[in-house]
Amino acid sequence: MAMVSPSLLSADFGNLERDIAMLNQSECDWFHLDVMDGVFVPNISFGFPVMEAMKQHAKKPLDVHLMIVEPQKFVKQVAALGAKVMNVHYEACNHLHRVLQQIKAEGMMAGVTLNPHTPVNVLEDIICEADLVMLMGVNPGFGGQKFIEHTVDKTRRLRELIDKSGSRVLIEIDGGVNRETGRRLVEAGADVLVAGSAVFGAADPQEEIHALRSL
Ligand code: DX5
Ligand code: ZN
Repeated sequence: MAMVSPSLLSADFGNLERDIAMLNQSECDWFHLDVMDGVFVPNISFGFPVMEAMKQHAKKPLDVHLMIVEPQKFVKQVAALGAKVMNVHYEACNHLHRVLQQIKAEGMMAGVTLNPHTPVNVLEDIICEADLVMLMGVNPGFGGQKFIEHTVDKTRRLRELIDKSGSRVLIEIDGGVNRETGRRLVEAGADVLVAGSAVFGAADPQEEIHALRSL
């Protein structure tokens, strides 16, 4: 069984209240919110005013994924939003150890995200400081991209690294997740599946969430 964190990036932004109400009624565990700055990734999504509005309606914990440079500048603002998880990119942090301490000091789960090109072994000396590691299954910036197959093997290697460290870090996968890739990712050791287009593009999104959760 996997936890499911649907990505609101694929929601209908003109009907956010309706889509969030649908997710509230679903079996999903978290709401995945993708923040993009047009610098760290070649796209811009939404920021704090929109997330504040989403939060007013959301009845599930917020899983915030910052695809931005200098994410350490926004730890307090993400905490003020009441987020459960704050995911920062390994590639965006010069002082990752400090950023993770700052996130935890604000009472949030500290998540480290790796781009597809970043090997899991760079986490060796930081794994015990993280609550969660998120592997990108696509290059970040857009929903609906093709899953990078390599991510399954990478998930397996991350599982080994975590088990060897004796820590209880969660593995989350973001990008290209559907029932088929999700099944293999859960087999490889994933705990949390992010799904945008698979959920919002489904004829019955709630049924899709149920299916992903049952993997
Ligand atoms: C991509 C975002 C993802 C995105 C996933 O940069 O981080 O969360 O919404 O979309 P799908 O599930 O469609 O690949
Ligand atoms: Zn994301």
